[in-house]
Amino acid sequence: MAKLQTLPVKTRRVSTHHPAASIAEYLRGRLLGQDHVLEAVAPYLDMFQAKLNPVGRPAGIFMLLGPTGTGKTRTAEVVAEALHGSDRHLLRVDCGEYQMDHEVAKLVGAPPGYLGHRETQAVLSQQRLDGVTSEYSRLSVVLFDEIEKAAPSMARILLGILDKGFLRTGDNNPVSFENSIVFLSSNLGAKEMAQISRQHMGFLQGSQRRKGDAAEEQAHHAKTHEAAMFAVRKQFSPEFMNRVDSFLTYRALDRETLDAILDQLLDKMQEHIDLRMGMETFSLVYTDRCRNFLLDCGCSPDSGARELKRVIQRHVLQPLATLVIQRHTPAGRQVQVDYVAEEGRTVFSLLR
Ligand SMILES: Nc1ncnc2c1ncn2[C@@H]1O[C@H](COP(=O)(O)OP(=O)(O)OP(=O)(O)O)[C@@H](O)[C@H]1O
Ligand SMILES: [Mg+2]
Repeated sequence: MAKLQTLPVKTRRVSTHHPAASIAEYLRGRLLGQDHVLEAVAPYLDMFQAKLNPVGRPAGIFMLLGPTGTGKTRTAEVVAEALHGSDRHLLRVDCGEYQMDHEVAKLVGAPPGYLGHRETQAVLSQQRLDGVTSEYSRLSVVLFDEIEKAAPSMARILLGILDKGFLRTGDNNPVSFENSIVFLSSNLGAKEMAQISRQHMGFLQGSQRRKGDAAEEQAHHAKTHEAAMFAVRKQFSPEFMNRVDSFLTYRALDRETLDAILDQLLDKMQEHIDLRMGMETFSLVYTDRCRNFLLDCGCSPDSGARELKRVIQRHVLQPLATLVIQRHTPAGRQVQVDYVAEEGRTVFSLLR
């Protein structure tokens, strides 16, 4: 079986003819600590790739539930990357922008004769769906992000998509979602889930038991899943719920996983610096002290990996910008980032 090469994300391509196992492998390397999510999604990508996806409905419908910063939005991005080579190949509907019914109407566009018909293009048009496919795959990745924020009329539009894989725009053009994988993300039940997780952590510490007791972990995940489902059932009708293939609850990220995510984020920042600085680029290296500091600051159970991103920005990227402006970062050199506890800040020095 052909193996995936480990190329950087930007240049990496997984063609539709690539073994599906490699797509799963690709996803596993990028979405960390949520293997159960990938195990649920990968078979639907396989089905599409084998052309055995069902007729008259999207290729897969997933509701992503759980605490902030645990990888719900990232999941849709990495699936788009795996299929098309870039997370730009993702049709993301930010449901926070559709809190009023007249805003929801923009999704399908105004009918002819209505005010604004010419100016408003349907957000969910066939053109937009096709626009996020690529030469590597015909599958469009669609994300309705934070659906609990949308006006109730959004549920009606979604129901049509989930049920028939079909939608009619305001100007009567059909839109088919058969070649789409649909993700619906939501924070519903996240508070309750976080509370159960906190109790669980307290219990683990109190009883001196270590994480890894499989039966206990399983029971804990079942409990958080149930809390999320309870909140979702309150918000959505049974007919809506019945059309979702899988409800996936995201797990709080432990320090070990955040450590691996820190590596990813630092690599990504280096890529960004290389891209922006061009020939003038330099490379950053981190002392263990600095990495530990970033992790200590970024390890907040209430914000997942989001805090980690902010911490890197505040303690690495921002002070670095000052050094770049002052021309203290010569091209081709290594810049070491350390943390000095007495000064309570990161310090930068040239290595070679
Ligand atoms: N499981 C994960 N694996 C790898 N990176 C992650 C993971 N979770 C979060 N991240 C990192 O944190 C960032 C924020 O995560 P993401 O946007 O997926 O959060 P979310 O679960 O959608 O939260 P919210 O409910 O606040 O929207 C991502 O862009 C990614 O860099
Ligand atoms: Mg999100």
